Amino acid sequence: MKKTVLITGGAGFIGSHTADALNRQGYKIRILDNLTPPTHQKPQWPAYVLGRGFELIKGDVCDRRILAKALHGVDFVFHFAAYQDQRQDFSRFFKVNTLSSALLYELIAENKFPIQKIILASTQFVYGDGKYSCPHSKKEFFPELRTLKALKIGDWSIKCPHGSPAKFIPFKEDQKLTPTNSYGLSKQALENLGLRFGKTYGIPTTVLRYSIVQGPRQSPHNLYSGAMRIFASQSLAGVPITVYEDGQETRDFINIEDVVRANLLTLKNPKTNFETFNVGGGRSYRVIDFAKLVKKISRSPSSLLIGAFRRTDTRHAVSNISKIKKLGWSPRRNTEYSIKTYFEWFTKGGFNKKLHAKDLVKLQEGIHI
Ligand SMILES: NC(=O)c1ccc[n+]([C@@H]2O[C@H](COP(=O)([O-])OP(=O)(O)OC[C@H]3O[C@@H](n4cnc5c(N)ncnc54)[C@H](O)[C@@H]3O)[C@@H](O)[C@H]2O)c1
Repeated sequence: MKKTVLITGGAGFIGSHTADALNRQGYKIRILDNLTPPTHQKPQWPAYVLGRGFELIKGDVCDRRILAKALHGVDFVFHFAAYQDQRQDFSRFFKVNTLSSALLYELIAENKFPIQKIILASTQFVYGDGKYSCPHSKKEFFPELRTLKALKIGDWSIKCPHGSPAKFIPFKEDQKLTPTNSYGLSKQALENLGLRFGKTYGIPTTVLRYSIVQGPRQSPHNLYSGAMRIFASQSLAGVPITVYEDGQETRDFINIEDVVRANLLTLKNPKTNFETFNVGGGRSYRVIDFAKLVKKISRSPSSLLIGAFRRTDTRHAVSNISKIKKLGWSPRRNTEYSIKTYFEWFTKGGFNKKLHAKDLVKLQEGIHI
């Protein structure tokens, strides 16, 4: 008999691509999604989940009755529904991301639903600014958030206690977590409760900490969609591309196809049970180089505008992916491919035909520092 997979947030970017891949492999797909802004501008199912034989449940993952109904008869759960942003409505992050996860385990334990595995979507943001080492003393430390005073004078780099620039160490799964924003904090709580309740109640659980995921269907209305959304909309609108700080900050980007392969591997491989994995691109990009690449591929006349900043941005965010690589997974798609496929989809109006790049540029103004 076909196994059924519940995908919360399955009408979104990662969830819908994962649904397609699982569907191709013969799984039955059930999606629970409340089709909420900013990802969805209208409370309607996007075309890419229609006509594929998916069972679609419109509802809130924090609603006990709806979630219990969605869990009935399910074998596996991907928990993707989330609130992801840079705004100051702190409590909403914990409601959508953390409460929903606690409710998931509560209902499974209460109703003895025979769930074989839960895969929880987490993020690089749980690492915050991460770990640094001092070149001379070799001492490692976890820096505090940079001060507003330092950022205002363009003092971007993270310093050792005696003042010289410190060296960033790519995030490893077993390092101390020091999230700096509500999103990261809410996902840290999700990880803790998922792994704890999973062990206590015998529900195999895996945490996947994605780096910045890129590809078609990523809602351009979602501020969280990051540099790709911002640079792409600015390139298309022909306005300056805003590169934060001095552009020397680094990130790692991963293509959606690689993320989907990691998701499927996690579902099938029992070695992933009760483990946490970074799922990243395996390559560090300076943001300024990424902006130049977007500009080149889109053939945009836009100039680069450097020097603005956001208060809680991390200076460097790059994941070490050696742990998941040991299971035979590694990224196959490069950043050029991600940019090209995103632009193809974006310019065809994949998200909303009436969408104009200039409107998206305006969205950027909603970000606080
Ligand atoms: N995209 C990335 O770069 C990235 C990086 C790291 C982690 N993640 C995590 O991966 C997961 C999927 O991200 P995504 O990029 O596909 O996001 P997305 O916004 O495209 O999809 C999320 C979906 O969840 C739904 N949703 C939100 N709140 C809900 C609620 N209360 N009840 C039911 N549905 C709700 C939305 O309507 C949306 O369809 C999230 O948990 C996110 O935190 C994403």
